[in-house]
Amino acid sequence: MKVLITGITGFVGSHLADYLLTKPEVEICGIYRWRSDTKNIDHIKDRLKLWECDLKDASSVSKIIDDVRPDKIFHLAAQSFVPTSWHAPAETLTTNIVGELNIFEAVRRAGLNPWIQIAGSSEEYGLAYEEEIPIKETNPLRPLSPYGVSKVGQDLLAYQYYMSYKLNVIRTRGFNHTGPRRGEVFVCSDFARQVVRIEKGLQPPVIKVGNLDAKRDFTDVRDMVRAYWLSLEKCKPGEVYNICSGKSYKISEVLEMLLGMTKETIEVKANESKFRPSDVLVLLGDSSKFRKETGWKPEIPFEKTLKDIIDYWRGRI
Ligand code: GDD
Repeated sequence: MKVLITGITGFVGSHLADYLLTKPEVEICGIYRWRSDTKNIDHIKDRLKLWECDLKDASSVSKIIDDVRPDKIFHLAAQSFVPTSWHAPAETLTTNIVGELNIFEAVRRAGLNPWIQIAGSSEEYGLAYEEEIPIKETNPLRPLSPYGVSKVGQDLLAYQYYMSYKLNVIRTRGFNHTGPRRGEVFVCSDFARQVVRIEKGLQPPVIKVGNLDAKRDFTDVRDMVRAYWLSLEKCKPGEVYNICSGKSYKISEVLEMLLGMTKETIEVKANESKFRPSDVLVLLGDSSKFRKETGWKPEIPFEKTLKDIIDYWRGRI
């Protein structure tokens, strides 16, 4: 079985590749951008087939799809950092929406109908009112960032391609996921990295933070990639599924937990540049639709995830 992962050098892509290596029937093919750092897959590179490709380039996507003829595609490549989407909204929309469009058109032109997972996001829900928590798939979408809008675009494009052409797409809406290898700009990794830099004397004992009042529903990335695999095994084409733990933490609690994992005494300081023009205040999801379809449930406790992130940075810095 040929599985194609877009964004294979990324955080989620590399964990999915690790997971799929436990499945002997799977041949793992991956697409990466020429600029991307391959450190996340250096340990498994010789067991993967890799293609360099910019998803915005339709003809190069088409060539790869013709070449690989995948049975399954996990579309994980994206501009995924919310604050960047305010600085580069056009780039975010183009990469995320047109990149996906090029994959859909390429498989159609090749006369294929692989199973395709489209990695949507809880950021699509954006503003959710108290009475709407925990958030179900039927909740109105009120995205609060260009990134959120780009994910709504990806999600609905997938729906439309299913309706128009019966393309076998599964739309997942992943809530926050984190773990080792998480990029340093994302909150848990950002805080853990700062703590380790302080431990190593590379930064004064002051941690810079943004909005600590936001709440997020975190899942370990290793549970998330297992869910992504199951989504293509068990879910219904055209349908949309929340994937989340169903428990949310205030970002201040996440900070406290990380500060409890070091012997250093650290001062906390708000940094203006880390606040967003509009932040999603509460994300807490209901994933019962997905759990019913697949039997999935998260297995890794959040405390272990945070410990693994801090250890990851201790090993890297
Ligand atoms: N990055 C960061 N750095 N965030 C901070 C900080 C900080 O120093 N201080 C507070 N925060 C708050 C942010 O304002 C936000 O409310 C929350 O921590 C989480 O921020 P991120 O880790 O950057 O993630 P996100 O929730 O914006 O988006 C992530 O989750 C989405 C799914 O809900 C990303 O992984 C997206 O790609 C993903 O779709």
